[in-house]
Amino acid sequence: MSLFSPPDPAQSDYSHLEHLACGYWPSEVFFLALNFDLFAKIGTGIKNLGQFGLDHDLDPSGLQRLFPALQQLGLLEHEGGYWFPSSISRTYLDRKSPDCMLDFFLYRQYMQKGWGNLAEKIGPPAQPNITPESPYSERNFHYVKALDLLARQKGVEIVARTRKCAWQGPILDIGGGAGALSRAFLQERPEEYATVFDLAEVHKAARIIYPHPSDWRHLDYIEGDFSKHTFAGHEKFGLILMANFLHAYDAGTAKNLLTKACSLLADGGTLIIHDYFPDRQTSRNFKAILYDLHMLANTYNGTCHRSDKVINWLVDSGLSAPQALDLDSDSSLIIASQSGEPISVAPDWLQLAQEHGFRTGVLLEPRDVITAPWVALKCQFGCKKFAKGLQCPPFSMDADKTRQLLDSYTKCLLVEGTPPGHTFHQQLLDLERSVFLQGKHKALIFGAGPCSLCPTCDINKPCVKPGKARPAMEACGIDVYETMKKAGLGLSPRTAKDQYVKYVGLLLLE
Ligand SMILES: C[S@@+](CC[C@H](N)C(=O)[O-])C[C@H]1O[C@@H](n2cnc3c(N)ncnc32)[C@H](O)[C@@H]1O
Repeated sequence: MSLFSPPDPAQSDYSHLEHLACGYWPSEVFFLALNFDLFAKIGTGIKNLGQFGLDHDLDPSGLQRLFPALQQLGLLEHEGGYWFPSSISRTYLDRKSPDCMLDFFLYRQYMQKGWGNLAEKIGPPAQPNITPESPYSERNFHYVKALDLLARQKGVEIVARTRKCAWQGPILDIGGGAGALSRAFLQERPEEYATVFDLAEVHKAARIIYPHPSDWRHLDYIEGDFSKHTFAGHEKFGLILMANFLHAYDAGTAKNLLTKACSLLADGGTLIIHDYFPDRQTSRNFKAILYDLHMLANTYNGTCHRSDKVINWLVDSGLSAPQALDLDSDSSLIIASQSGEPISVAPDWLQLAQEHGFRTGVLLEPRDVITAPWVALKCQFGCKKFAKGLQCPPFSMDADKTRQLLDSYTKCLLVEGTPPGHTFHQQLLDLERSVFLQGKHKALIFGAGPCSLCPTCDINKPCVKPGKARPAMEACGIDVYETMKKAGLGLSPRTAKDQYVKYVGLLLLE
C-alpha cells in the first residue's frame, strides 16, 4: 500500500500512523543515493563493496547497510553477488538514459526544505515539545516516554504471541525503560515479580511517567549499566526480556551482553528478545533494514543484528532451540529456553478447545474428514426434522459442495463435547470467534444435530439468525462416524435411551 493512500478502514492498530511518522526514512535514503550519484557510479554492476567504497571515498561498512535498503526500495538488485541498478533506476536515474529524471527528483529534494514553511502558511506553528537543543533531562524524558508508548502496544502483542511459553517469574527486563513490557507480562500473571534494569535517568523518567504506587506493584528497578552490574550468584530469573536493547550495540558488545543475560536465566527459564531483524523481512516486517540505517544515523554504533546471528549467539550460550517469530506489526521475537525443551509458541488449538468446554479434540487434515452421498439420504429417510429447517437437507450443502469447501482448507479441528445441544452449539460459536480473533479468518464451524436456535424454522424465508446458525456436519454430507474413527475418537450408535451421547463438531481452521 502506498503511503499516500488511505488505510483500510477496518485496520485498528497504529501501524498506518507509524508508516506516516517514518515516511521520511525512504525519501532520505533515496535522496542520499541521488546525491552520491550512486547509480551512475555502480554502472552495470559491482561485486566488491570494499573496493567500491575505496574508489569513491565512501565508507564500505555504511554501504553494506545502505545497499540492502536501496534493494528494498526497488532501486538496486542483488544477484550472483553483484549489485546493479534496478530497471527503474537505470531508466530514470542514470544520466546516460534518454528518460533520465535525476534533476527532477533532485528538485523534489530541494523543495523539501519549503515544507518547513507549511505550518506558518496555515497557522501559528506550535512549539515542538522537544528539540536537539533541549536540555538532556528533557530529551531523556521524551525518549523514555516515547519508547514506553510503543512498548505498551507491543507488550499486548508480545504477551499474546508468547502465551504458550509457560514462563515462570521472576522477570528481568534488561534495558526495560519505564517498564511497559514487564507490566504487560505482570498483567498476565499478577502473582509474579519483575525487575526492570536501566540507567538511573531512565528510572527517574519512569517514576514521572508512572506516578502511582499501583504502577509499581510487584515491579522493582535496578539502576545501572547492565554490562558492569554484578548479580549475586543466586540471583536467577525465570523470564528475561530484552526488548529493543541489542540493536543499541555493535555485534561484539551485543553478543557479550546477551551472554551475560543468558547466565542469569534460571533452570528452565525463558529468554524473549524483541527487535528488528534485517533477515526477517515479511510483507509486514519490512522495517528492519531501514531501522538499521536509523540506528546508523542516530546512534554511536547501533546495529540491527540478523536473527540467525543472534540465534547462534544464544546457542553458543547453551540455550536450546531458539525460535524466531514475526509479530503482526513490524518487528520480531526470538524466544529461547534454558531447558532442553523447545518452547512451544504456536497456538495450541486443542488447549483452546478444552478451554471452551470441549472434552477433547483432534487436529485433522481435511482429507480425513469423510464425505459421502448416502449421508443426506439418512437424513431424508431417518430423521423427522428432514426439510423442516434451513440448516438441514435438502436446504443444506450437499456432499460434493462440502468436499469442495473442506479441500479449500489445510487444517480442521474435530471437537467432542456433551449435551445439551444449545450449549454445545454456543461453545462452537465461541471457539470459532476465538480462533478468528487469533488471526484465522477462515474459521468456520459445523455443529451437531438439527439447528435449535428457534422453536420452528420458516423455510420459506431467509434464516433469521444467520450469525449463529450453522449446519450440522451430517446435514452437509459428512460421515461423522468414519471421521471420528479417522480421528481415533470412535463413535458408536446409541443402543439405549440413557446412553452417554457424544456431540461432535468440526472447526474448519485454516
Ligand atoms: C531502545 S530502549 C528500549 C526500552 C524498552 N525495552 C522498550 O522496548 O521500549 C533501550 C533501553 O536500554 C537501556 N540501556 C541500553 N544499554 C544499557 C545498559 N548497558 N545498561 C542498562 N540499560 C541500558 C537504555 O537506557 C534504554 O532505556
